[in-house]
Amino acid sequence: MCGIIGYIGNRQATPILIGGLRKLEYRGYDSAGVSVWNETEGNSRVVRCRGKLAGLEEKLKAEPAVGTVGIGHTRWATHGRPSDQNSHPHKAGPISVIHNGIIENHLALRQELAGAGAKFSSETDTEIFAHLVEHALIAGAPDLTTAVRRSLQKVRGSFAFVVMSDKEPGTLVAAKNSSPLVIGLGDGENYVASDVTAILAETRKVIFIDEGEMVTVTRSGVAITDFEGNPKTREPKMITWSSVQAEKGGFKHYMLKEIHEQPRAVADTLVGRVDLENDDVSLDGLELDVANIKRIIFIACGTSYHASMVGEFLVEAMARIPVEVDLASEFRYRDPILGPGDLVVAVSQSGETLDTMEAIREAKKKGAKVLAISNVLESSIPRLADYAFYTHAGPEIGVASTKAFTTQLVAMALLAIHLGRRTGKLTKERARELLADLVALPSKMRDVVEGSAQIQAIARRYGAANGCLFLGRGAQYPIALEGALKLKEISYIHAEGYAAGEMKHGPIALIDEHLPVVVIAPRGPSYEKTISNLAEVRARQGKIIAIATRGDNDIGGHSDDVIIVPDTALELSPILTVLPLQLLSYYVADFKGTDIDQPRNLAKSVTVE
Ligand code: M6R
Repeated sequence: MCGIIGYIGNRQATPILIGGLRKLEYRGYDSAGVSVWNETEGNSRVVRCRGKLAGLEEKLKAEPAVGTVGIGHTRWATHGRPSDQNSHPHKAGPISVIHNGIIENHLALRQELAGAGAKFSSETDTEIFAHLVEHALIAGAPDLTTAVRRSLQKVRGSFAFVVMSDKEPGTLVAAKNSSPLVIGLGDGENYVASDVTAILAETRKVIFIDEGEMVTVTRSGVAITDFEGNPKTREPKMITWSSVQAEKGGFKHYMLKEIHEQPRAVADTLVGRVDLENDDVSLDGLELDVANIKRIIFIACGTSYHASMVGEFLVEAMARIPVEVDLASEFRYRDPILGPGDLVVAVSQSGETLDTMEAIREAKKKGAKVLAISNVLESSIPRLADYAFYTHAGPEIGVASTKAFTTQLVAMALLAIHLGRRTGKLTKERARELLADLVALPSKMRDVVEGSAQIQAIARRYGAANGCLFLGRGAQYPIALEGALKLKEISYIHAEGYAAGEMKHGPIALIDEHLPVVVIAPRGPSYEKTISNLAEVRARQGKIIAIATRGDNDIGGHSDDVIIVPDTALELSPILTVLPLQLLSYYVADFKGTDIDQPRNLAKSVTVE
């Protein structure tokens, strides 16, 4: 989704802004722009372009933006179609503004401002903020910071703004409410960004801005206040992971690289958590009040929701605590019944998904404790929660989540074992077996991802299909949903995930000789039933791709293709069975030639409702 970068210093701003925006490309966008203050002209030049950054760079060659202060933005359209005119930055008089998020009361504000003489040149909600700041200055605000503060009193919604004024070119003013904002500190120069990756090539010393805070950034320093102007102090943090970790490393796409990184990501997520001596799991010292947890409610979106569904299966099986799973985007709209005995587990790779954040706020308001599971240190969701537990997948750049998902599944298993040991429902012996299987997972995962040639051949055969069905039972049902989501996201082929037992209640009508059906059928208690479903598909000439356990010599007789995964504990098998599905989607999309890392219309982190 939208990306923000700002620079103030003594170097040319444009290359720094473009470099930062390039690092944010993975978030998904449809247009880009910069505004750079030109000292000689005493004015800022805005250059904007619909489409990819390369288009903006071409435009900048023809009309260079020269100067040492500037702001840049990649836009993912919400209000107003993607166009040059609707791209950010937006200008009103001397004011340039970039914005992530949505101004909810933009229609009323637009009318009010138009009544006061404002002329609008775009369809966006963002332009309203530029006019508000200009009007605040005309109405007597003594400086840019005060004008922004007064304007913030008028807007409702989620936002991160960065504002620049031609009249006060030594200052950038930024504000945050529900959209991420980080300040990068340099020597005689400073940065503002929506994501630390945008500035990592320039500095590792950063300050994360909290909800309801604004910040005035000059070449020599930063001053943070709340929206009322009360000063706030914050120690800078050093970022330890390198920008190289977020590069392609010889793979054709980030997604393929990230699929191959999964054994390492899972191993890193296990480090320091598995206590083989005591057959237990440590959740980094978190002190959950397990004895008083009456119910667990997972809330999440998209792939994280599928991980949560596996979490339900694991926690109920191992800890015998009742579990519910809710879509974060639905949760707060049905006035959920919650109380102090509830532990809400909010799962979010990015830690920035707005729906999940709002669901957490609802849960906290109603007295529940919240545990966040996230992959991004210091992101908004873990900071909002009472407890945070991190996956260690490393930066995930491909929009389609892969290594973040498998590490979330590992986090679910760790949580379930931890709870199971404390509720007394998981025996020491079973915990020992599960932990041994967990530790053995990375090398088994390596076996699957390195055997991708077979999957590539299957993908070539089914690349022209118009649709695809994914079936699974128990903990494989969420994997069927995840397989279908992956295929849809990157290949644009319509796909459905179904609980295998539900097939005969509707989707069986879809089956004919043209429909590939992926059946996830590892050995386990529901194996026989799944094989019956497979036979039902076969009887209707559907094409079957089975995901089965090593040593299963029967399933080949019922399937067109069999992809084998190593054996492991039933509870952990989703971590292996999802791998062929990720690879299948990847290779189908690759044959189709779609934009795999930045699929159309999608964004990496969804920071609007
Ligand atoms: O960052 P989050 O885990 O909160 O993101 C949730 C979804 O937006 C995300 O999983 C989305 O479904 C991915 N594109 C899936 O590949």
